Amino acid sequence: MSGLGGDPPGERIFLCASGDLVDGGKGVAFEVFWRGEALRAFAVRHRGRVQAYINRCTHVWTELDYREGHFFDATGELLVCATHGALFEPATGCCVGGPGRGPLQKIRTTEEDGRVYWHTAPLLQPQNA
Ligand code: FES
Repeated sequence: MSGLGGDPPGERIFLCASGDLVDGGKGVAFEVFWRGEALRAFAVRHRGRVQAYINRCTHVWTELDYREGHFFDATGELLVCATHGALFEPATGCCVGGPGRGPLQKIRTTEEDGRVYWHTAPLLQPQNA
């Protein structure tokens, strides 16, 4: 596993109810400090699994969503950057089309008893800590 998703579990932080994330549907945003910078992150559900990333395209440092919470392309199978159309694989964050330069920064998540959590890492902390 690459990126932040491969770090030790860290502290788990409640993100949303499981039912808030519909497969291929709207994402849920959350705010983090990553490498000391205040940024937004997002979680989506794809093929039943929750996936979360720093909301920062690898082409130009901009957020991906064209409308708040909209991260999937028309097929619901790929994440798309609204600015120039880079495409990313939801499970890995790997860029599979367009001008992206490498994978999105993955954030570890877990889901238990109808609740979704994201996990901190050494360079990834909540903004409200
Ligand atoms: S900023 Fe995302 S594709 Fe250019």
